[in-house]
Amino acid sequence: MASFLKRIAALSAVLVGCGVKAQSEQPGFNGRFFNPIIPGFHPDPSCIFVKTNQTFFCASSTFNVFPGIPIHSSKDLTNWRLIGHVLNRESQLPELTASVGSTSGIWAPALREHNGTFYLLTTMVHDKKADNDSSRWDNIIFSTTDLWDESKWSKAVHVPFNGYDISPHWDDEGNSYIVGSHAWKVAYGIHLAKVDLKTGTVLSNWTNLWNGTGGIAPEGPHIFKKDAWYYLMIAEGGTGLLHMETIARSRNLYGPYDPNPSNPILTNANTTEYFQAVGHADLFQDGRGNWWGVALAVRAGPEWLNFPLGRETVLYNVTWQNGSWPQLQHPVRGDMFGWLMPGGIHDAPGTGPFASDGDVYISFPPNSRIPPHFVYWRPPIKENYVISPPGKLNSLELKPSKLNLTGTDGNSNAPGGITFISRRQVDTFFTYSLTFDYEPKAAEEEAGISLFLSQNHHARFGITTLPLANSSSMTLVPHFRFHAISYIPVPADVVVPVPEAWRGKPLTLSLRTVNQTHYEFGAGPSDKSDRPRSIAEVSGEIISWGFTGALVGAYATSNGGNGSTSAYVTDWNYEGWGQVREIWNGTLRA
Ligand SMILES: *[C@@H]1O[C@H](CO)[C@@H](O)[C@H](O)[C@H]1NC(C)=O
Ligand SMILES: *[C@@H]1O[C@H](CO)[C@@H](O)[C@H](O)[C@H]1NC(C)=O
Ligand SMILES: *[C@@H]1O[C@H](CO)[C@@H](O)[C@H](O)[C@H]1NC(C)=O
Ligand SMILES: *[C@@H]1O[C@H](CO)[C@@H](O)[C@H](O)[C@H]1NC(C)=O
Ligand SMILES: *[C@@H]1O[C@H](CO)[C@@H](O)[C@H](O)[C@H]1NC(C)=O
Ligand SMILES: *[C@@H]1O[C@H](CO)[C@@H](O)[C@H](O)[C@H]1NC(C)=O
Ligand SMILES: *[C@@H]1O[C@H](CO)[C@@H](O)[C@H](O)[C@H]1NC(C)=O
Ligand SMILES: *[C@@H]1O[C@H](CO)[C@@H](O)[C@H](O)[C@H]1NC(C)=O
Ligand SMILES: *[C@@H]1O[C@H](CO)[C@@H](O)[C@H](O)[C@H]1NC(C)=O
Ligand SMILES: *[C@@H]1O[C@H](CO)[C@@H](O)[C@H](O)[C@H]1NC(C)=O
Ligand SMILES: *[C@@H]1O[C@H](CO)[C@@H](O)[C@H](O)[C@H]1NC(C)=O
Ligand SMILES: *[C@@H]1O[C@H](CO)[C@@H](O)[C@H](O)[C@H]1NC(C)=O
Repeated sequence: MASFLKRIAALSAVLVGCGVKAQSEQPGFNGRFFNPIIPGFHPDPSCIFVKTNQTFFCASSTFNVFPGIPIHSSKDLTNWRLIGHVLNRESQLPELTASVGSTSGIWAPALREHNGTFYLLTTMVHDKKADNDSSRWDNIIFSTTDLWDESKWSKAVHVPFNGYDISPHWDDEGNSYIVGSHAWKVAYGIHLAKVDLKTGTVLSNWTNLWNGTGGIAPEGPHIFKKDAWYYLMIAEGGTGLLHMETIARSRNLYGPYDPNPSNPILTNANTTEYFQAVGHADLFQDGRGNWWGVALAVRAGPEWLNFPLGRETVLYNVTWQNGSWPQLQHPVRGDMFGWLMPGGIHDAPGTGPFASDGDVYISFPPNSRIPPHFVYWRPPIKENYVISPPGKLNSLELKPSKLNLTGTDGNSNAPGGITFISRRQVDTFFTYSLTFDYEPKAAEEEAGISLFLSQNHHARFGITTLPLANSSSMTLVPHFRFHAISYIPVPADVVVPVPEAWRGKPLTLSLRTVNQTHYEFGAGPSDKSDRPRSIAEVSGEIISWGFTGALVGAYATSNGGNGSTSAYVTDWNYEGWGQVREIWNGTLRA
């Protein structure tokens, strides 16, 4: 609870800037709320409200990141705690280890409860296959009766379906169905079949229900039955500036579906809003019967150039009267008013971190566990991450992988994996730092920190050992090395010897936002015997790409060589100090 209270104070401080504002201007009062509700890399949200517990639960997509598919809980739609991950054991879905490319892996989830069981339907996308190859789309179902214990989630049950973004529906007789989508000609549009969700057996042919209103990539379908209508809500336009949500309805589950004349029902397309790409929505009711919706959105502005946080989860209120089409409040903005928040501001159940929490100088004492919000790039090779090893108590030992963060081709995995442990960037402005006790011995061995989107979009800044430039001596000397990779031009590598006075000491490496578009990497001795130095700067544009969002974390690699020197890290610190939620006349406002 202390952390919750601290958080409310911090929220007020960040949001209202200086000065004390009236209670009525804080989130949760008079229905005021701030977006994103779940900041950072949390795309494709799907949420439910569980009446018996008066609690909201949301799932989001994770692509190659492991653990995958986080579940956040909330009592008030404002404070969201991480309560676990659906995909928390490699054995649930061994295929993820071989995932190629940062836009493959786990796509959009659909979270639903039926008769006391929770279902999470999603698609594991295999890359390096043609879009018209049905084996690219591995549709899967996880289930549990206990959301609070992540180990209870089942293994993936596979459902044969040529498409992606599957979502369940149950009729009044208890029959279960799946609705899914395909963007490519071979199986275009939204399709429905009767499916046994326990076994994944498809019990009927697939019926093409609707193709949307003409936007590209009709996807992310959900069916809602209300007032004797079947509503089919989908995303269209692709997950960029033209993203939108549309809806059609029918008296029969199998159609024909008539589109809403007012489509799209949710979009920020063709506006100057800071939040863009709003779409991929889900709808649910709170305990008072009021309707709400979530969607993904990107804080990019219409310029669509600098959006390192990627696709985040946003909230809006909804009016849905009997027999009428739902009305979804939009444009989606950073500061909105909806229905009175259910019951005011409440702590969220569970003990996990809040979605927007920082990390305060985390160390890794004996018998402790890796914090639940830390993530790896694909399922980790567990032996490469050792908590509090002998002789280096309270540190996390990172054993180097042969692969560096780029890997062999910028997309694939290889035996030995990629030693990298990270967390999401969840604030526009932040400082991240970490202390390395690391003395590389073999040439090119390297450990450091990274601003990471994918194997082929990141900036990394590490300690390595190299011969001095222009020296006839081949003696290896520790160096700082900055390297970036992207689809756009990147700053040149920076390679500088570690100052002599700093050698042999633990070094603190840092990454901070300089302003809304740029990041800076720096280093200094952790004993503070000298001032830290700034070593390289990089624009967020190099990681503004694709379907995922920025991670910050620590890596260790032999860069293809035979080095095996471990790095020991401590004092993992991430402090957010500002959230930009809107732009007024070119000026950013927190
Ligand atoms: C709801 O609360 C009950 C009683 O506290 C608990 O047994 C159950 O697991 C909870 N279910 C969910 C979904 O939180
Ligand atoms: C609901 O679950 C109970 C207990 O698992 C089971 O006995 C019952 O048949 C289920 N009802 C439906 C409609 O699936
Ligand atoms: C898939 O697309 C490729 C080229 O785009 C084409 O050669 C192939 O025939 C297609 N296969 C099917 C099953 O449509
Ligand atoms: C699927 O369609 C085929 C051809 O139209 C039909 O013969 C078959 O009975 C259908 N299968 C089911 C399970 O409905
Ligand atoms: C959807 O598009 C496909 C392919 O273009 C077409 O065959 C099908 O008839 C369309 N379905 C509907 C419901 O309009
Ligand atoms: C946005 O503008 C483009 C180009 O004029 C148009 O094709 C598209 O339909 C518009 N989208 C929305 C949701 O208004
Ligand atoms: C809407 O329908 C529900 C039942 O479907 C009913 O209980 C409620 O009174 C209706 N509300 C209005 C405003 O008609
Ligand atoms: C959203 O909530 C406000 C109350 O703060 C209400 O006036 C408005 O009509 C609602 N909009 C929708 C689309 O539900
Ligand atoms: C090495 O020599 C080149 C060419 O003389 C020079 O441009 C460069 O600055 C030197 N580098 C260092 C680290 O002294
Ligand atoms: C942000 O910082 C970078 C690097 O210092 C600088 O080049 C850029 O002009 C700054 N942008 C703004 C808007 O101040
Ligand atoms: C990263 O690894 C690849 C493949 O082993 C290698 O070609 C590349 O040089 C490495 N990068 C650095 C900076 O050593
Ligand atoms: C934006 O600038 C225009 C023209 O300078 C001014 O009229 C308007 O009030 C400004 N809007 C805001 C929100 O500051």
